Amino acid sequence: MTNDKQQTTIPFVDFKLQHQPIQAQLQQAIQKVVQQGDFILGKAVADFEAAFARACGVDYGIGVSSGTSAITLGLQACGIGVGDEVILPTNTFIATLIGVMQTGAIPILVDCDPNTALIDLKAAQKAITGKTKAILPVHLYGQMVSPSQLLALADAHDLLIFEDAAQAHLAQREGYIAGSIGKAAAFSFYPSKNLGAFGSGGIVLTKDATVAEKVRSLRNYGAPKKYLHTDVGTNSRLDTLQAAVLNVKLPYLDQWNQSRNSAAKEYDTLLEPLQSQGIFPIQNQSATGHIYHLYVIRVSAACPLDRQTIQDQLTASGIQSGIHYPTPCHLQPAYRYLGYKKGDFPNAETLSQEILSLPMYPGISSAQITHVVDSLKRITFGKL
Ligand SMILES: Cc1ncc(COP(=O)(O)O)c(C=O)c1O
Repeated sequence: MTNDKQQTTIPFVDFKLQHQPIQAQLQQAIQKVVQQGDFILGKAVADFEAAFARACGVDYGIGVSSGTSAITLGLQACGIGVGDEVILPTNTFIATLIGVMQTGAIPILVDCDPNTALIDLKAAQKAITGKTKAILPVHLYGQMVSPSQLLALADAHDLLIFEDAAQAHLAQREGYIAGSIGKAAAFSFYPSKNLGAFGSGGIVLTKDATVAEKVRSLRNYGAPKKYLHTDVGTNSRLDTLQAAVLNVKLPYLDQWNQSRNSAAKEYDTLLEPLQSQGIFPIQNQSATGHIYHLYVIRVSAACPLDRQTIQDQLTASGIQSGIHYPTPCHLQPAYRYLGYKKGDFPNAETLSQEILSLPMYPGISSAQITHVVDSLKRITFGKL
């Protein structure tokens, strides 16, 4: 049987480009763990925790099994639990909401800024009640929520800040590094993240020694020492093998992020003529501090073609794309019982219909970026 499907010429992410040059280092690091046999909470975990915390300018890092776990255990360690209200944006990956729900806290969803897709802090302010304990900003697509505005809001209302930095490894804004603004922060090392493991992984960062000790206990059966269970914990540790991989990759993260940022600048410039067709990028308000986990454009109502048509035609041209995310959290079937309905968060709902993520990875070439944009132009102008 012949496969007449068009071959992908530009993938959405390209792991080979990232891993081939460091393959020998990766293999050595994995081999070392196999030889040492310290698979659970081995040396590589402690090494990585210290190195990543240092890179982000905080004192403590506690490796956990996923970004979702990092949110749950991090919030719990900060004292968030049943009856507490936590404010978060509705336009995020569902894991942010899951992380909050697992603590027993009440999620209070809010809308986003339509230009940046980041949490609307004015909407967050309006959502504050006497039960609000924390605000959970998501540094979406690799761009931080404004630290100065967040801190001002949190100070004024005595709120704890817990950052979801799953998409923002070493992102910067206003002199702050992601993960260093609040009481604690969660990161994911899902393989396609800017710093990705060879499987699942996450970390909680904090400057607070008590919070750090609590997460250490919670991730390891609630045991600060073997067979003594002082917390109702779980099994959620970062594997030594994953930490070994992350230790090899961490020194390259900054250059990979810079490569993404330069690629985004190329996209921005080449895409300019498409603004007349109602297609424009999500705004970057943090210059080189944006680490472009995703490069996202909007196919607005002013565009003669709808997003689905454009995405289908890109696919037919061998260009992969994505939608992050097609349904905001408040409209997901599993969470209907929270009581939200269509129309509650118009900016997030509109964005979910308009956004399209283009290929983005360190090392994406100018020729590839040009090809993506030329294809978009051919598709869009060709229909006029
Ligand atoms: C914004 C955000 N929060 C949380 C997560 C959860 O991370 P994980 O998949 O490692 O559980 C992810 C990524 O998947 C994410 O993008």
